[in-house]
Amino acid sequence: MEMTITDADFLRLVQFIQKSYGIDLSKKRQLIVGRLSYTLQTMGYTSFTAFIDHLLSTRNANDIELVINKLTTNYTFFMREEAHFNFFKRTILPEIVQKHKKDRSLSIWSAGCSSGEEPYTIAMCIRDYLGPQAATWDARVLATDISQRALTLAKEGVYELPETMPPEWKRRYFQAEKEPNRFRVTQEIKDQVQFRTFNLMDPIRFMTKFDVIFCRNVMIYFDQPTKDALVRRFYDASSPGAYLLIGHSETLNRDIGYQFLAPATFKKP
Ligand SMILES: C[S@@+](CC[C@H](N)C(=O)[O-])C[C@H]1O[C@@H](n2cnc3c(N)ncnc32)[C@H](O)[C@@H]1O
Repeated sequence: MEMTITDADFLRLVQFIQKSYGIDLSKKRQLIVGRLSYTLQTMGYTSFTAFIDHLLSTRNANDIELVINKLTTNYTFFMREEAHFNFFKRTILPEIVQKHKKDRSLSIWSAGCSSGEEPYTIAMCIRDYLGPQAATWDARVLATDISQRALTLAKEGVYELPETMPPEWKRRYFQAEKEPNRFRVTQEIKDQVQFRTFNLMDPIRFMTKFDVIFCRNVMIYFDQPTKDALVRRFYDASSPGAYLLIGHSETLNRDIGYQFLAPATFKKP
């Protein structure tokens, strides 16, 4: 049975998630009730008030994740928004490989990597581009998310492959599992991706300045000030000439300093 949520409880929950994760649920009242009622009841709660009291006082990571997982999506797939990967291979990689030919180190971040398809696609493009030279480069992709469930799947690296997966990639970068139609990313590609838990609301304190940041289909949940503040942090964490790739349905505030290059593709001057 669906539980009801009072205005006060709805506001408490929305403000907590907004402040901690930037995710704007203020227009998702029906979704909250619809998606959480059953789960909360199976956990023994008889009202939203009791659950929200518990959530706000303990800030229990599992409970927070449950709410976020129920109300946002981890939806992703290999080579999503393929135009980006074509641009990455043809334009970005030649440029940054040339730029780093002395230190032989690339800094690429998949921010909001979900279950890993995005950073693995990036790693496969890099492996294709560098060929046998890959072994002499440090071109590991940093891949972060707040969802532990998504990161566990990502590290496991076992997928049903889409029809669109190029046969060449399937052969080179995957091994068939025992179960039908399940494929594991090869160790060589796994070694090229470092998965970490990271909340995009937190200050960015990674050691190197990034050459490329993919943050696609993540900011859709954020309100404008949260989005702008995050894009400013991306800008400051990037080297001059670095790229920012966002989802094709998303927009970017031009005042921050990024130059528009192609749809959903921006460059720091
Ligand atoms: C729809 S998926 C996008 C995956 C991939 N980038 C793509 O475009 O296919 C959005 C991801 O953003 C993550 N996310 C949402 N808010 C976040 C936050 N505050 N910090 C880190 N990750 C967040 C979610 O957990 C989810 O895995």
